Amino acid sequence: MTAARRFYVTTPIYYVNDKPHIGHAYTTLACDVLARFKRLDGFDVKFLTGTDEHGQKVEKSADAAGVAPQALADANSANFRDLAAALGCSNDDFIRTTEPRHVAACQDLWRVLVEKGEISLGAYEGWYSVRDEAFYGEDELTVGPDGAKRAPTGAPVEWVKEPSYFFHLSRWQDRLLAWYEANPDCIAPTSRRNEVMSFVKGGLQDLSVSRTSFSWGIPVPGDSAHVMYVWLDALTNYITAAGYPDTQGGAFTRWWPADLHMVGKDIVRFHAVYWPAFLMAAGLEPPKRVFAHGWWTNEGQKISKSLGNVIDPLMLIEKYGLDQVRYFLLREVPFGNDGDFSHRAMVNRMNGELANDYGNLAQRVLSMIGKNCAAQVPQPGALADDDRALLDAAYGLLPALRDALDRQMFHEGLEALWVVVRAANAYVDRQAPWALKKTDPARMATVLWVLAETIRALALLTQAFMPTASARLLDQLAVPEVRRGFDSFGAGHALAAGTPLPPPAGIFPRFVEVEQGAN
Ligand code: MSP
Repeated sequence: MTAARRFYVTTPIYYVNDKPHIGHAYTTLACDVLARFKRLDGFDVKFLTGTDEHGQKVEKSADAAGVAPQALADANSANFRDLAAALGCSNDDFIRTTEPRHVAACQDLWRVLVEKGEISLGAYEGWYSVRDEAFYGEDELTVGPDGAKRAPTGAPVEWVKEPSYFFHLSRWQDRLLAWYEANPDCIAPTSRRNEVMSFVKGGLQDLSVSRTSFSWGIPVPGDSAHVMYVWLDALTNYITAAGYPDTQGGAFTRWWPADLHMVGKDIVRFHAVYWPAFLMAAGLEPPKRVFAHGWWTNEGQKISKSLGNVIDPLMLIEKYGLDQVRYFLLREVPFGNDGDFSHRAMVNRMNGELANDYGNLAQRVLSMIGKNCAAQVPQPGALADDDRALLDAAYGLLPALRDALDRQMFHEGLEALWVVVRAANAYVDRQAPWALKKTDPARMATVLWVLAETIRALALLTQAFMPTASARLLDQLAVPEVRRGFDSFGAGHALAAGTPLPPPAGIFPRFVEVEQGAN
């Protein structure tokens, strides 16, 4: 397998101090769509997700709950694993930072950084936010309404003074800038790239990478009074899962550098500044790309535990269906921007684009074939211009989708698909196959074949977004499992006339609100 035909994609690993919410579901789903799409496109894929289990935040949450940090981590890590399953995620690995493989990887990376003179002992004195697990400079802070200093994220900060090892981040400013310049696609979207570059141009301070005031972390090799800074520990997960520290091993050479780290906009600095610096300092390659997506609000309001408006993804799936939720989250918002969740918007998209546009197209075409073509793929005659135009548009979708998804522009990809869905519906209306039934049955067969073949193309391409509904559609077109990869896309693999078809059944029900008070 050449490097070009493999794809290693990662989600951030989630803190175990909390229950999963829509933000976690969003990142994981986006990665799942990419992983599925690339597999269908013949790539060897590694899709990694997992949980971030160390650090002061988790230790404090465990204390507050009166349980040991490991017990809290065990319980909440299981919630994230269950969420991935409930989202239909096809992750190949689930890493936990308390696993021995990860502890070994972190300690090895530490030793390498020390050997190379990139880490040395000092003392930290400055601001720290436990909620963000981040150090802040005085000039970054603001004063909240209560008079207390706050991080740029709004999180409280505390003054920390303790012995600490430092990573000499300040030495990496020029090499980071050179890396950004040489790799225009390594941080996306552009607004985030600009933000990161101006942060780095503003000068970098050495980074405190160990703590002594608590113990829930990976011990620093040779100095067990210190535990590693949780972000150094957490970021390392991406190489642990690729087989580090065995850098000569087949796994590492096959998977590293990762093709894509998908993250939220709040953690881009860790991934696009600290992480490439750690890697380059250790003599390893930086990741190929970091994409930072936006944040969801709920019915116009910032999502927060204190407001009590956290959206539970399991509730959404139960109410609307998994494929519908997957579609909505990736269609509603241009990926990279912030977006607002509302039940109204969810129902509009489900009913308009899924039930009416896509579902209806499939339903009416398949039931006409069932009734009028002896439940077999119809026999097409010579194709007219109108037929060719629709098929060409459908066959043109694969390169369009590849391009959109290589840029993580999910909404663009879905928009392109729906242009063809709508064109197919307009073609049905224009060609009126129900009228041709009496006047020209041979032409009716051609029209229905063109439509069935268009639906085959659409269903192949919606698989990564809506795996269950797409599989049901492909079942109804009698497309065998082995013909569902993108090597079976296009005219060369078109539906064969005479293939028996199973009875059609609706794929996307209309959503009818039954509860009182929901909008
Ligand atoms: N543990 C770190 C990541 C370490 S990766 C080496 C962490 N965990 S987290 O659980 O707090 O957040 C995980 C992701 O959820 C982040 O990418 C964050 O941006 C995302 N989201 C949290 N709230 C969100 C929304 N309201 N909307 C969209 N994504 C959000 O950070």
